[in-house]
Amino acid sequence: MNWHSRYLQQAAWTRDLRTYLFEQAGLKTAHRVLEVGCGTGAILCDLNTPASLHGLDLEAGSLDECRVHAPAVSLTLSDGHFLPYPDRSFDIVYCHFLLLWVRDPLQVVREMARVGKSVLALAEPDYSQRVDEPPALKPLGEWQTESLRRQGANPSFGATLAETFYQAGIKLIETGPIQGDAVMRSLQDWKNEWAVIEADLEGIVTGEEIQKMKRLDETARKQGERTLHVPTFFAWGMT
Ligand SMILES: C[S@@+](CC[C@H](N)C(=O)[O-])C[C@H]1O[C@@H](n2cnc3c(N)ncnc32)[C@H](O)[C@@H]1O
Repeated sequence: MNWHSRYLQQAAWTRDLRTYLFEQAGLKTAHRVLEVGCGTGAILCDLNTPASLHGLDLEAGSLDECRVHAPAVSLTLSDGHFLPYPDRSFDIVYCHFLLLWVRDPLQVVREMARVGKSVLALAEPDYSQRVDEPPALKPLGEWQTESLRRQGANPSFGATLAETFYQAGIKLIETGPIQGDAVMRSLQDWKNEWAVIEADLEGIVTGEEIQKMKRLDETARKQGERTLHVPTFFAWGMT
């Protein structure tokens, strides 16, 4: 699995929202910006700002890749539950597809609120409300949700994002679902998506069942009958 390609694909889904939210949060005049759970740098390498950029992640391998994709960023190997920065030391602290993966999302958001003035969670999905059409593809969604659970994620975290911000004492400015579906725009996107599905479902269902779903998916897409919608939420607030 090429994780950077996968993260770039997810980053493309949220680009319009990110552009809007970062502008509202004052990215152009910010001095210091931090991404918690920055992974391989798919978001950091896309930021257009004179601010000094910082990224933090638990995985040393991801940070090694991030160094290649976003060479100007200061990187820290650490845990988002205990951010190694002073109070209010960043103008903007954000995360993107992170909180569903952490042990205690409220603790991570509290830490983001402690070190940041503006706090943004840009994309947190709620797989419990996933929609797959045609109905024959419904099991695919159920298997993927189960796979996320087995990998340690909370697949429905997105539904409680706003409440988590509220509990962390953040003054919510805007929150809601990201508009628009994660449309597969190209054959390459579809191939990337299926590379993820095949890796995720290994050990959950047989290869034969996966290939059957893949064929159904391909046919439905060609006929314009495929819908895949995972409600995904954002929240932005001030401390
Ligand atoms: C789905 S990836 C998203 C990466 C990046 N934010 C993006 O959107 O491209 C989630 C990242 O969060 C990191 N992560 C998970 N738990 C973490 C924690 N407790 N503290 C810091 N990073 C964490 C993982 O190592 C991984 O790089």
